[in-house]
Amino acid sequence: MLRVCVIGMGPIGNRHADIYRENPLAELVGVCDIDVERAEAASHRHSVPAYADATSMLAALKPDVCSITTGGYEYGSDHFAPTMQAFDAGCHVLGEKPISNSIAEAEAMVARARELRRAYGINLNHRFTPAAQIAKRWQDEGQLGHLLFVNMSMWIRNPAESSPYFHIKALHPHTVDVMRHFCGDVEAVQCFATKAPGRGIWSTAQFNLRFKNGVVGSLTGSYDIERGHPMERCEVAGTQGRFVIEDMWREATLYPAGILEKTVYTNPIFGGMRGFEDTFRNRIHRFLEQLTDGASPDEIDGSGEDGLAAQKVLDAAIHSLEEERVVYVR
Ligand SMILES: NC(=O)c1ccc[n+]([C@@H]2O[C@H](COP(=O)([O-])OP(=O)(O)OC[C@H]3O[C@@H](n4cnc5c(N)ncnc54)[C@H](O)[C@@H]3O)[C@@H](O)[C@H]2O)c1
Repeated sequence: MLRVCVIGMGPIGNRHADIYRENPLAELVGVCDIDVERAEAASHRHSVPAYADATSMLAALKPDVCSITTGGYEYGSDHFAPTMQAFDAGCHVLGEKPISNSIAEAEAMVARARELRRAYGINLNHRFTPAAQIAKRWQDEGQLGHLLFVNMSMWIRNPAESSPYFHIKALHPHTVDVMRHFCGDVEAVQCFATKAPGRGIWSTAQFNLRFKNGVVGSLTGSYDIERGHPMERCEVAGTQGRFVIEDMWREATLYPAGILEKTVYTNPIFGGMRGFEDTFRNRIHRFLEQLTDGASPDEIDGSGEDGLAAQKVLDAAIHSLEEERVVYVR
């Protein structure tokens, strides 16, 4: 059983801790937050010791795995220090998205994991659903044929105005990861964005993408629309067929080219996904399962490298928006 600590006990850290506690592959052994009240509340909720300092906790408890669920500016500036501390203490790390709001810091974390041969996963939870797995199987079976295009969209309401690029950097690690999962690395990007009434940030954006394998794609995203109705859609098409995933896990439909019958997977009432929290459950379980099975750091699904690659696409999009041109992803 893997000994696990969680660093950063906001709503998301508590969700990780809840999930570790119910997972038979893990034992939650400690929680940490620099906010002493949050640390104490988490200790009470999860019945494990709380620490205000990550280094002390890592030295005292010697966990195998750390979830880093800090946030900060653009939801990503606080991940760096505790992630490096956890790697240096010998832990495998599952970090929250975005991997970081700084490409340089993301690169340093990925490099440290590689240097120390530690597993580094990012909570790119939207690809860890049965619907996404079935769609991937259709693709791997050749049912799409030669890949041609991808259309992705996602919208929620987030009124925070912390940074002009908050929506792009904090929401779209998810969508870019799903697109990369099916279509590979992105070569070039062009982005337009707009500000909803009353907003000072680029709260809605449209991206055009070209992938290294020649696939073309578009992504539409927004922080301006209340949840309630469907909020995410991924369509991938090739010469032999096309699939659409609705709302991450709700439904996946395969439309074979030239055949008038379609195949539909619908999330079942019994034994299916019960809500968004199950995307976290599946993702965390996969990380624990890979570690338990002895997967090498290079084999981790939804890895630090995937998190970094998504952030580089978003960085290119921001340059495109600022400079009104197509930008190649470096
Ligand atoms: N994967 C998803 O679907 C999803 C959904 C929502 C949020 N998130 C991500 O989860 C992260 C956390 O979100 P949240 O809403 O819980 O944030 P939050 O700001 O409420 O909580 C973060 C906590 O981390 C603590 N912290 C910061 N630096 C620390 C350090 N060095 N050591 C210990 N504690 C430290 C803060 O005091 C705070 O309590 C964000 O990165 C966000 O982007 C992911």
